[in-house]
Amino acid sequence: MISHARIEKNVILMLVLTLLTVSIGGLVEIVPLFTIESTIEKVEGVRPYSPLEQMGRNIYIREGCYTCHSQMIRPFRDEVERYGHYSLAAESMYDHPFQWGSKRTGPDLARVGGKYSNEWQAVHLVDPRGVVPESVMPPYGFLARRALRAADIAEHLKTLRKVGVPYTDEMIANAAADLAAQAAPDADVAGLLARYPKAATGDFDGDPERLTEMDALIAYLQMLGRLVDFSAAPAGGIRQ
Ligand code: HEC
Repeated sequence: MISHARIEKNVILMLVLTLLTVSIGGLVEIVPLFTIESTIEKVEGVRPYSPLEQMGRNIYIREGCYTCHSQMIRPFRDEVERYGHYSLAAESMYDHPFQWGSKRTGPDLARVGGKYSNEWQAVHLVDPRGVVPESVMPPYGFLARRALRAADIAEHLKTLRKVGVPYTDEMIANAAADLAAQAAPDADVAGLLARYPKAATGDFDGDPERLTEMDALIAYLQMLGRLVDFSAAPAGGIRQ
């Protein structure tokens, strides 16, 4: 046995033994993670984003909405009472990159889907202060004037598949058609809804003639937090 006094008086020895101890601790914690397929518990209802939602998500990231909005409800009473059931890891398992965020200048958006109508969302994005006078959110009206560029949507889904999002060949083959159908008021959406249950469909930006970036962004906002059915969860989402 090396006595403690000896270790404490010899810096090099102390350093070597410290590194040894820390690496054993690290290995014990990290190695088991490689042997399990997933550290995320699967939850019913969670699915990959539909092509239109995915494009909306890209715009959300491009515009930096995450600099003011988080998408993670923490398991505290004040958060759960305001925003709904706390976020589950599985709800963001297909997010690349995730949008948990670290700043809330505006409210958390993890469960904003279905909270407002499409019309409210469009009016609010065009002129936030027209709806909420004290808002500091910038206006995004230009999104309604910009046509959605999504010619590469199938490639996009294929790339996401490479990083683990389970898009099927059928989803990829139908990507462009699904994208168009989701925002067309009279389209046949049976196939789309079979592939992407609970997707919001119809015109989103108030202009059914054109497919715009605003359509995609609102389609994305309207599905946030709606995939998992929490109706059977304990009141307020907090286990008492
Ligand atoms: C400078 C910070 C800021 C940025 C950037 C920002 N927002 Fe906001 N947002 C706010 C604030 C503050 C509110 C609360 C007042 C209001 O409703 O306008 C808000 C409210 C919202 C709401 C309503 C939430 C609710 O539950 O009532 C939505 C939806 C929203 N923002 C979406 C977006 C989207 C989408 C983007 C990006 C295109 C974005 N925001 C960018 C600050 C911001």
